[in-house]
Amino acid sequence: MGDPRGPLPLREALTEYLGRVRGVRTTPESIVICSGVRDGVDLLGRVFGRNRPVAVEAHGLYIFRDALAALDVATTPISLDEHGAVISDLDGLDTPAVLLTPAHQSPFGMALHPTRRAAVIDWAECTGGYVVDDDYDGEFRYDRQPVGALQALNPERVAYLGSASKSLAQVLRVGWMALPDALIDPVIAAAGGAQYHVDALTALTLADFLNTGAYDRHVRRMRNRYRRRRDVLVDALAGFDLGIGGLAAGVNMLLTLPDGAEPEVLRRAGEAGIALSGLSIMRHPLAGPDIPDPDGVIIGFGAPAEHAFGPAVDALRGVLAETLR
Ligand SMILES: Cc1ncc(COP(=O)(O)O)c(C=O)c1O
Repeated sequence: MGDPRGPLPLREALTEYLGRVRGVRTTPESIVICSGVRDGVDLLGRVFGRNRPVAVEAHGLYIFRDALAALDVATTPISLDEHGAVISDLDGLDTPAVLLTPAHQSPFGMALHPTRRAAVIDWAECTGGYVVDDDYDGEFRYDRQPVGALQALNPERVAYLGSASKSLAQVLRVGWMALPDALIDPVIAAAGGAQYHVDALTALTLADFLNTGAYDRHVRRMRNRYRRRRDVLVDALAGFDLGIGGLAAGVNMLLTLPDGAEPEVLRRAGEAGIALSGLSIMRHPLAGPDIPDPDGVIIGFGAPAEHAFGPAVDALRGVLAETLR
């Protein structure tokens, strides 16, 4: 079945690529190929175990909370402010790990402030905990200098996760983990001890794509396309006087809505054939009354085919005009 970490050519190519583009400090021996960030969270959840809850951002992708819940691994929310996750919320929590989106908080879009980046590494060093760095869209940054991977601050305390879901296609189901030494064998064991999570054809094709520079060219081309789409959307939404966040990076933006408007916007968008995610479902069910609960929708602008994008923006405008009039 080959190396349980996945084909060596892909691990070599990723070591070079992630080091060059995201500042990740790793080696081919420390990389484990998986079937996406969700799979990585699942494998790490098995390693962290059921005894203590894993800390997560109070608003974050519910899919990862659900993946952990399916393993009977509980999660506990930490709050967010304009500087990202509030790391001091970890004080006194008995947790093996904290799952963060440090480069581009999902769904609000801020980058974790440098003092918070240092603080979470301090926390991990002092408590023996791990930081899980979900770097899901780090390649797509538009308005500011790239925010490097948090993993670089201490590769022995940070498990770095990434995937081709934003750069190529989510349905490919290929991702990677750059792991601290102490987590490599436990993750391999959790994955079944063999290369069950990635097929060689996908892995070797991706390795070739990376090694020839075609992946870099693709990302550059897509970054320009996504920036254009983002600008078109911002123009289209300008007349509605709504908060728009998360614009500096990625392929999603967050539209903050008037109180109570979210279900209606989601319903009408569904009827118009536009897939939006609600902000409410991203809120941790255990988040207390001190955690804000704004109405909003997350608009993904990466997926539509080029010819379908303009009509989708027009339809979205129609939905908002009808709902908010
Ligand atoms: C916050 C976040 N992390 C990770 C991912 C990618 O997950 P996966 O690699 O499992 O497709 C996404 C994709 O939507 C995401 O929004």
